[in-house]
Amino acid sequence: METRRSFIKKSVIISAALCLPVAVTRESQAAYPDLKTRNPKKALVLWYSQTGQTRRYARLIGCILQGRGLVVDVRDMQEFDKSGMANYDLIVVGTPTFYYDTPANVADWLKTIPAIPVTPVAAFVSFGGPEGNQHNASTHVLKLLVEKGGIPVGRDAFRNIPSYPTPKWNNPQQISGQHLPDAATYDQVRRFAATFMEKIARNEPIFVGYEMALREGLRVLPLVWLNKKAISKHTVDAARCIGCQTCVRKCPTKAINPSRQTVDREKCLACFGCLNNCPASAVVMEYRGERLYGFPEYLRRNKIVILEPPELKTCSL
Ligand SMILES: Cc1cc2nc3c(=O)[nH]c(=O)nc-3n(C[C@H](O)[C@H](O)[C@H](O)COP(=O)(O)O)c2cc1C
Ligand code: SF4
Ligand code: SF4
Repeated sequence: METRRSFIKKSVIISAALCLPVAVTRESQAAYPDLKTRNPKKALVLWYSQTGQTRRYARLIGCILQGRGLVVDVRDMQEFDKSGMANYDLIVVGTPTFYYDTPANVADWLKTIPAIPVTPVAAFVSFGGPEGNQHNASTHVLKLLVEKGGIPVGRDAFRNIPSYPTPKWNNPQQISGQHLPDAATYDQVRRFAATFMEKIARNEPIFVGYEMALREGLRVLPLVWLNKKAISKHTVDAARCIGCQTCVRKCPTKAINPSRQTVDREKCLACFGCLNNCPASAVVMEYRGERLYGFPEYLRRNKIVILEPPELKTCSL
């Protein structure tokens, strides 16, 4: 059985050899105008999430901000009407790291938001592995927000159990992250929120810069395309499908059609959202001939229960 990591390693060996052997950080500080407010009243926390991990952090951030007296909307980006974004005093965007970067659909979505002049903006990613290029994935989100007029006040990355389906879910990275998020991860989230609120109060933007590292070279490779080549089957089992349309709602490109049992392979981003969310195990995906099963099933089989932050017990967001 080949893991995703070894597959990618083999596929990119030539390109990786061309990358810098050492990590260098390239920072840039722009001269930003003053923030629209040092005392935000209304915040928007937007998330994209296929297995609930980014959503959990987004809700926690929303609850923390609500606890500080802000009016907070926590919304799924895929269902959010972006036309009102300029009405918020603070915008936080969270996304998983997919293929060493911001998922393409998230980047595309952010490129079409309206102007958000002098609005404080913060970005975070959830990620599955220590070498996942999470710094640059979160920087990418922040840069897209800054391009729309946002002023950067926070950036962070939170590690958790990876939800990338492999036939046996047993690669070392998967196992090393199985216990995450833990209490320390949630402390990091709390610090993130506290720090960007402090930055806003002081009218103090943060630096935004990509990290030049070996893994940054991976970001520019056609990893989705390579992975789709390895997905030998992607269809819907009509006998199992209960017609709930969850896969259609979760698919960022509307590539799946469960009533016809088809997937438009051109449109598909290989995000595994359909597989990871189907409640009837009706999405059939094979990786080099081996059947994949989704994240909830993996948690069940391994009796893994993801730790919830205590704030979510009392907060309704
Ligand atoms: C298609 C796919 C690609 C992924 N690529 C990476 C990656 O490049 N780096 C990384 O650290 N984690 C990667 N992961 C793990 C996810 O970033 C991690 O599971 C994330 O927390 C999922 O967030 P969600 O539950 O909000 O969808 C990947 C997961 C998937 C499904
Ligand atoms: S068909 Fe499935 S894997 Fe492909 S983009 Fe849609 S949800 Fe993601
Ligand atoms: S999520 Fe599963 S059960 Fe629901 S429509 Fe899609 S394939 Fe069918």
